[in-house]
Amino acid sequence: MRIKKAVFPVAGMGTRFLPATKANPKEMLPIVDKPLIQYAAEEAIAAGIDELIFVTSSSKRAIEDHFDKNYEMETELDKRGKKELLQVLRDIVPEGISCVYVRQPEALGLGHAVLCARPVVGNEPFAVVLADDMINGGAQSCLSQMVDLYEEEKCSVLGTERVAPEETNKYGVIKETVLREGLSKVDGIVEKPHPEVAPSNLAVVGRYILTPAIFDFLAETGRGAGGEIQLTDAIAELLKHEQVLAYEFNGKRYDCGSKLGYLQATVEYALEHDELGEDFRKYLQSFVCEAGLN
Ligand code: G1P
Repeated sequence: MRIKKAVFPVAGMGTRFLPATKANPKEMLPIVDKPLIQYAAEEAIAAGIDELIFVTSSSKRAIEDHFDKNYEMETELDKRGKKELLQVLRDIVPEGISCVYVRQPEALGLGHAVLCARPVVGNEPFAVVLADDMINGGAQSCLSQMVDLYEEEKCSVLGTERVAPEETNKYGVIKETVLREGLSKVDGIVEKPHPEVAPSNLAVVGRYILTPAIFDFLAETGRGAGGEIQLTDAIAELLKHEQVLAYEFNGKRYDCGSKLGYLQATVEYALEHDELGEDFRKYLQSFVCEAGLN
C-alpha cells in the first residue's frame, strides 16, 4: 500500500525558544522566509503524500491558519497585481493535498501524539515527520528516500543518523545489525540513553514510516522516559513482531529544536536562497573578515 498520509506532531510547547514561542508555535519559526512546518509539509508532499495530519494543541492555531486560505490577503495582492506573491500563498497547499487537524488534549509525549492520529490514519502505513528536524536531502528528500525503501521492504523504516557518542541522551538510539552501508535491522531501541549504556551511536531523527500495527503497541505503552508516552517504547515492542529498518538517509539535518541548529539552518538556507543568496554571501564574507573570524 502506498504511503499517502503523514502525521506532524506539533502540540509541543517549544520551551527552548521562549520567549519567541510564548504565543507562537515553534513550528512557525521561519528559516529565512518559510516556517519550519512548511518545509516539513513540502518534504512530505515531495514524497508523494497527499494527506497532512497535524496533531495540534490549543495554542497552535497559527498552524491551521497558515495552511488555510487567506481570502483578505489574496484579494488585496490580486488587486495590487502582485501575482508572484499571490502564487507564493497559493503554493502553500498545492492542488490535491488535504490537511486534517487532530487535537492532542494533554502533553503526554510523542507516542501519545501519534496515537491521537489513529482515527485519521486508520489501517494503513504512514509517515511521521518532526518539523524541528529539518533535513536537506538534496536531489531526493529524506522522506522520499524512505518511502522508496518502504516500497521495497514493506516494513517500518526509521530515519537515522550517526551522532557523537556523548549525544545519545538526546535521541532514540538503536541496537543494530548492519545489513549494508546505511541500512541496519533494528534489534532494539531505547529512548535517550546515557552514553555509557547506549547500544550504539545510531540515532533516530524526526522521520518515521510506520505500519499501522504501531497503534496497538502505542495504546498499551505506559509512561516512559520523562514521564511521557514514548514512540520509541512502542517501536521497541513492534520490532518483536515485525521487521523494522534503520536507514541512514542522504542529506544534512539541522536540529532546529536547538538555537544553534536553528541558526545554522538559517545561514545555510539564506546562502542558497534565490533572491538573497548572493547578497548574503557577500555580507557574510565581509563580516567574517571584519570580525576577524577567518
Ligand atoms: C524525539 C524522540 C526521539 C528522537 C527525536 C528526534 O525526541 O522521542 O526518539 O530521536 O525526537 O529528533 P525529542 O527531540 O522530541 O525530545
